[in-house]
Amino acid sequence: MDLHGRSFLTLLDYTPQEIEYLITLSVQLKEKKKKGIRGESLLGKNIALIFEKPSTRTRCAFTVAASDEGGIPTYLAGNELQLGHKETIEDTARVLGRMFDGIEFRGFRQDYVEALAKYSGVPVWNGLTDAFHPTQVLADLMTVLEVFGKLKGIRFVFAGDGRNNVANSLMIGCSKLGVDFVNIAPKELWPQEDLIEKCKGFAKESGSEITISADTNEVKGADVIYTDVWASMGEEAKVAERIALLKPYQVNASLMEKTGRKDTIFLHCLPAVKGNEVTEDVFESDISYVFDEAENRLHTIKAVMVSTLGDMTKI
Ligand code: CP
Ligand code: NVA
Repeated sequence: MDLHGRSFLTLLDYTPQEIEYLITLSVQLKEKKKKGIRGESLLGKNIALIFEKPSTRTRCAFTVAASDEGGIPTYLAGNELQLGHKETIEDTARVLGRMFDGIEFRGFRQDYVEALAKYSGVPVWNGLTDAFHPTQVLADLMTVLEVFGKLKGIRFVFAGDGRNNVANSLMIGCSKLGVDFVNIAPKELWPQEDLIEKCKGFAKESGSEITISADTNEVKGADVIYTDVWASMGEEAKVAERIALLKPYQVNASLMEKTGRKDTIFLHCLPAVKGNEVTEDVFESDISYVFDEAENRLHTIKAVMVSTLGDMTKI
């Protein structure tokens, strides 16, 4: 599989085979890291990490992944760049593309990360926008694969803010890889209709199903229960409104009970607001794989960078 020179902006741009390849490569890179072997696939590559929003996992994963493979990451705080104040995204992109070999962008607008890719001429990786969080979903699916040994036929339930970046990207990733995706949310927070329709098309191809419902009984039979914060970065003013809307969708012992299973696992992209979208007892329980999932951000982000920018003979 040759992904050299590609950007990674949304899973919509990747075929099921390409996504599977990235997950398989992530598993290999994880094994290599556990053996203490470093690679040189990104040797001498300068990598810009632009963050308009805060980050722990994504920033650290890009930084460590780059240096594990010989790359040189440079952190650029969005508010310390000229971007958006004096300079357009197109101009910033053309400047950074003259200096860096690859660019990660976390921010608000999806059209910014798209413009960076279009005008920089180097691979650009989406580290989260308001619309999508594609690297997160690679780690989520990798974690499911590690636990269950398969993806096809898994019943993956997302409960909470069903129209945020993570829920959108999960719906795309699951529908492309044959995972049955159930999105449980109040109607006000359902994903956009055009995205649902696109994903139904992917699901048809992969032999999976998409269910969007306000009914929490849909957790029945779930292999995975996943949630995310009720107010994403940039939506802090909406916290009270969201708490009122989403209280019935909290992942707690009684929701887990409704699965009718004992082996359902809990996932969360993190950071978690315990007491809102998930209770402390579920978060800390044996069925919670959130820290494996967080670790897998490193291996999956490394897979994205080495396959699109690196020398694959030197991983
Ligand atoms: N899950 C995730 O993207 O975490 P950070 O915001 O800490 O990067
Ligand atoms: N939906 C969350 C994800 C954080 C990783 C947010 O955008 O804040």
